[in-house]
Amino acid sequence: MKVLITGVAGFIGSHLAEKLLSENYAVIGIDKYLDNYPRRFKEKNLARVLNHSKFEFFENDLAGLNLRELVKDVSYVFHLAAQPGVRSSWGDEFIHYTQNNIMATQLVLEACKESAVKKIVYASSSSVYGDTDDLPMREEGGTRPVSPYGVSKLAAEHLCYLYWKAYGAPTVSLRFFTVYGPRQRPDMFFHIFMDRLRKGEEIPLYDDGEQTRDFTYCADIVDGLLGAAFYPGAGEVFNLGGGTESSLLNVIRIVEGLSGRKAKLKPFERQKGDVRHTRARLDSAKDKLGYRPKISLEEGLAQEWRWIQTLED
Ligand code: NAD
Ligand code: UGA
Repeated sequence: MKVLITGVAGFIGSHLAEKLLSENYAVIGIDKYLDNYPRRFKEKNLARVLNHSKFEFFENDLAGLNLRELVKDVSYVFHLAAQPGVRSSWGDEFIHYTQNNIMATQLVLEACKESAVKKIVYASSSSVYGDTDDLPMREEGGTRPVSPYGVSKLAAEHLCYLYWKAYGAPTVSLRFFTVYGPRQRPDMFFHIFMDRLRKGEEIPLYDDGEQTRDFTYCADIVDGLLGAAFYPGAGEVFNLGGGTESSLLNVIRIVEGLSGRKAKLKPFERQKGDVRHTRARLDSAKDKLGYRPKISLEEGLAQEWRWIQTLED
């Protein structure tokens, strides 16, 4: 059976590709090596799968491929390609978010709308909820993003819904909550924090460090993606959180404990686009997708810390 993964050289896409290849799927991967972070990280992400006999890689922009042709004999599409940073989505940068998050999603949906694809799983984001006191965040609750990135992810989610409504394209959107673990993007907090901790450098801490996230380990996200692919329904949205809500300061304390190092924190003001708290209601993903996050925050942080120490300077 064949699957297509967009954004395959990225943090989450590369973990998903490894999992699917290990389960004997043939994987078509697309990634244009967007410059949101250095190409060397993405090449390394793909190193384990690139020469796999069942892996076919297209180093292309989604806009530069005949996607209709590519999805012809594909059973599942995992659409992860995106411009993913929250705080960098303002101003002149927004055009990259409209192109890579909204326009690119529409191309994927157009290609799939009259195909035999059984499921199109779209990687949405907790950022669609915005800054709310209505916690935990519920799929049926309000969405009012506070970053241009969140707006673009929500727009693409709406596209997934309307291609299901209009064409019966079997889409499912998954709202990931701050994902971490080995290969985490170098613009994300745990990566920056741990890399600087290992080098003895100052760590930029935005806001007061008491902001919280429902941090989700990458392998749990991969399980959720598979659960969504095999789910018989469509046209729905599910939260995928880790069930491990924590403040940044708590994370810093845990990593200080397991590394035996002391973090040198440099405070900065709260950044535009940041939400104060996220917490996922997981009942729906548990009931319908069989989703069960398994990795505790302590265990996941230990895995990421181990990986960070393998990086070159
Ligand atoms: P990532 O940047 O590591 O991976 C995304 C990949 O998509 C990149 O390698 C990039 O080169 C590729 N890409 C972007 N636009 C493309 C295009 N037009 N054509 C071809 N390739 C393109 O990001 P990630 O953290 O792995 O995130 C994967 C997905 O999950 C994204 O859609 C992101 O919005 C979503 N998400 C991530 C998180 C998180 O915490 N990492 C949380 C919520 C949602
Ligand atoms: C993350 C991902 O980066 C997004 O792609 C994703 O869509 C989003 O989760 C989501 O859940 O939807 P974010 O929660 O902002 O976004 O994750 P980080 O970039 O790791 O930031 C976490 C917190 O650390 C934020 O409050 C941020 O302000 C803070 N931070 C970040 C710092 O204090 N210092 C830094 O150097 C970087």
